[in-house]
Amino acid sequence: MKDTLTIALSKGRIFEETMPLLKSAGIEALDDPETSRKLILDTNHENIKLVIIRATDVPVYVQYGAADLGVTGKDVLMEHGGEGLYEMLDLQIAKCKLMTAGFADRPLPEGQIKVATKFVNCTRDYFAKQGRQIEIIKLYGSMELAPIVGLADIIVDVVQTGGTLKANGLVPLEHMADISSRMIVNTASMKMKHQKLKKLLDQLKDAVDQK
Ligand code: ATP
Ligand code: PRP
Repeated sequence: MKDTLTIALSKGRIFEETMPLLKSAGIEALDDPETSRKLILDTNHENIKLVIIRATDVPVYVQYGAADLGVTGKDVLMEHGGEGLYEMLDLQIAKCKLMTAGFADRPLPEGQIKVATKFVNCTRDYFAKQGRQIEIIKLYGSMELAPIVGLADIIVDVVQTGGTLKANGLVPLEHMADISSRMIVNTASMKMKHQKLKKLLDQLKDAVDQK
């Protein structure tokens, strides 16, 4: 609807780190997704709703206009490809790095390397650019387990403190990209709801700059 704005967010760190920025723009959620089972949250603005979805689904909702805008990690955005949406603002939250990781003392095999990851497209592009042969094993989480049980030689995952790798006897190897979360906007919404969106994006930019 022309008058409403729907913002897609995932539970957890993205919701927690985005809400203070939205609050600076005068938007507050009336429910907490950690305690409520609601998937559409009302805000203090009758015309602004929050949809709470899986992190990987945020660009999909925005691409198809089911949400006008959304907050997504650059890792998820690169993996999605960015069709049907604009990346409008780096919110400078949920910062981490996309990396390869493996055992410190285990040389990689000659020829094809087995790589376990949920970031299939990013991984394919990264290794193809280097002319390295890989087999990708698509997983949906707990990638760190794959080298331990011999499912893969290395993994591609996000790393922040390095604590998860360390706890599983792995080390970061190659830095692939710096990651932070971005505000993305549906291309059609950007035209149809330009004034509303521009105002909100300007307020969010100010909030990010003041942090
Ligand atoms: P899904 O639920 O769809 O599997 P997810 O579990 O990766 O997604 P989150 O853990 O909430 O979702 O991560 C959301 C985003 O936060 C990621 O896309 C990434 O950009 C960033 N992120 C992931 N892990 C960390 C971390 N340990 N520290 C900081 N930022 C992170
Ligand atoms: C992410 C990622 C790593 C971990 C890295 O998992 O998949 O496992 O964070 O962070 P660290 O370097 O600080 O240990 P997350 O905590 O989001 O759990 P999830 O994969 O279940 O979402």
